[in-house]
Amino acid sequence: MGDTKANLTIDGTSREYSVLDGTIGPSVVDISSLYKDTGMFTFDPGFTSTASCESKITYIDGDEGTLLYRGYPIEQLADHGDFLESCYLLLYGELPTRPQKEDFVNRVTKHTMIHEQMSRFFTGFRRDAHPMAVMVGVVGALSAFYHDSTDIADPHQRMVASIRMIAKMPTIAAMAYKYHIGQPFVYPKNDLDYSANFLHMCFAVPCEEYKVNPVLARAMDRIFILHADHEQNASTSTVRLAGSSGANPFACIAAGIACLWGPAHGGANEAALNMLTEIGSVDRIPEFIARAKDKNDPFRLMGFGHRVYKNYDPRARIMQKTTHEVLAELGIKDDPLLDVAMELERIALSDEYFVSKKLYPNIDFYSGITLRALGFPPHMFTVLFALARTVGWIAQWKEMVEDPGQRIGRPRQLYTGAPKRDYVPVEQRR
Ligand code: SDX
Repeated sequence: MGDTKANLTIDGTSREYSVLDGTIGPSVVDISSLYKDTGMFTFDPGFTSTASCESKITYIDGDEGTLLYRGYPIEQLADHGDFLESCYLLLYGELPTRPQKEDFVNRVTKHTMIHEQMSRFFTGFRRDAHPMAVMVGVVGALSAFYHDSTDIADPHQRMVASIRMIAKMPTIAAMAYKYHIGQPFVYPKNDLDYSANFLHMCFAVPCEEYKVNPVLARAMDRIFILHADHEQNASTSTVRLAGSSGANPFACIAAGIACLWGPAHGGANEAALNMLTEIGSVDRIPEFIARAKDKNDPFRLMGFGHRVYKNYDPRARIMQKTTHEVLAELGIKDDPLLDVAMELERIALSDEYFVSKKLYPNIDFYSGITLRALGFPPHMFTVLFALARTVGWIAQWKEMVEDPGQRIGRPRQLYTGAPKRDYVPVEQRR
C-alpha cells in the first residue's frame, strides 16, 4: 500500500481514506469504514466505479483492449496453449509443467461421466425447453449427487468439486443438446481430448463412426479459452456473492449460469446471431443502425459495446480469425451472415454514435457465426459460453473461499420508499 490518501469532506468534517495500489491497473480507495465514520453509504448502481474484491486471476484494460489470465495475454494463450492448460493456469496461478499437465488432464478425464441417475433429470424437461434452463437445473442438482465434495472448508473437497465441474460441464451440455434434438446421449470417450470429446458427445450417433475434425476441435478449444474468465463480470460476481454465504460450489455455478443467460451478458451470442438473421442482408443494415441509435427504441446492436472494453475486445479479434478458419475448413465460401456482420461492424465503427460511445464488437459478435458453422443451434450458444466460463467461475469462487478476510457479501441501499407509517384497517382505506 502506497502513502496516497483520499480526502472526503462532509459537512465541514474531513476524513482520509487509504488508496490501495494493484500490480497494474486502477488503484482503489478503501472506503470500508465509511459507514462507521459517516453514517453514509457510497452509491454505485451497476458497480461502474466499484471494486468488489481483490483478485490475482484475470486483468482487463478496457482502454488498451488487454486481457490477461494470470498475467499471460489471451492472444498468446489462444495461439499456443489449449483449454485445459488455461484451466490449470486459472486455478493454480502458473502454467503447468508437462507432468503437472498430464496429471491434470488425467484427473479431468476421469471425472467426465455423470451419475447415471442424473440422466433422468433431462426427461423431466419438455423437449423444446431452452438448454440453458436445463443447465441451471441439472448443474444445481449436482450437489444432490456429489455430497463428498460440497464441504467448502475442506481444500481437498474444493479441488475435487472444481475438477468435477470442469470435467462434467461438457457432458451435461452435450446431453442437454442431445435431449433437445431427440437423439440418444453419447458417453464421453477417454481417448479423446477435452474439446474433441465434447464435439463427439454432441454430434456422434450410435449408427456410425463419428470422426472429429481436428481443425474444428482446435477451433472449439480456442473458443473455450476465449470465454474462460473475465474478471468480475455479472455472472462471476453472482458466483462470488452466492459463495460468500457458504453455498456449495455446484449451487454457486448454477447461480452463475442463471445470470449468464441474460441477453445483456452471455445470452448476447444467441441474440447477436438472431439479430444478424433478422437483418438478413447488407442493405437492411442502415435501418437497424438507426434503431440502435434511437433512444425510444429498446433495440441494441447485440454483440456490441462493453462495460469495460472501450476499445476492441481482444477476444473478438481472435474470434473473427477463428470464424474464417472454420468457414474455410468447412468449405463455406460466403456466409451471408458473415457478410452482414462484417459490413455492420464496418459501418458501426465509422458512425459517430458508436465512435463517441466507444462501442466496439465484443466476443459475442462473431462467436455465433462460428458456433453455427460448427453445427450448434443458436440456443446452444450460451450453453457453450457457460461450459467454458465454469473454470473462471470456479477459480474466482476458490479464490474468494480461500481469502482469510472473506465475509458474506451484503450491500446496502439508498431507501426512497415510504417513511414509517401506521397500519390502516381495511374499512378505513380509500
Ligand atoms: C459479455 O462484463 C463482462 O466482462 C461480460 C463479458 C464476459 O466475458 O463476461 O465480456 C461477456 O456479456 C459481453 C457483452 C454482451 N452484451 C451485448 O453484446 C449486449 C449489447 N450490449 C449492451 O447491452 C451494453 O453495451 C452492455 C450491457 C454490454 C454494457 O452496458 P453498460 O456498460 O451498462 O453501458 P450502457 O448500457 O450504459 O451503454 C452506454 C451507452 C448508452 O447510451 P446513453 O444512455 O449513454 O445515451 O451506449 C449505448 C447505451 O444506449 N449502448 C448501445 C449499445 N451498448 C451500449 N447502443 C446501441 N447498441 C449497443 N449494443
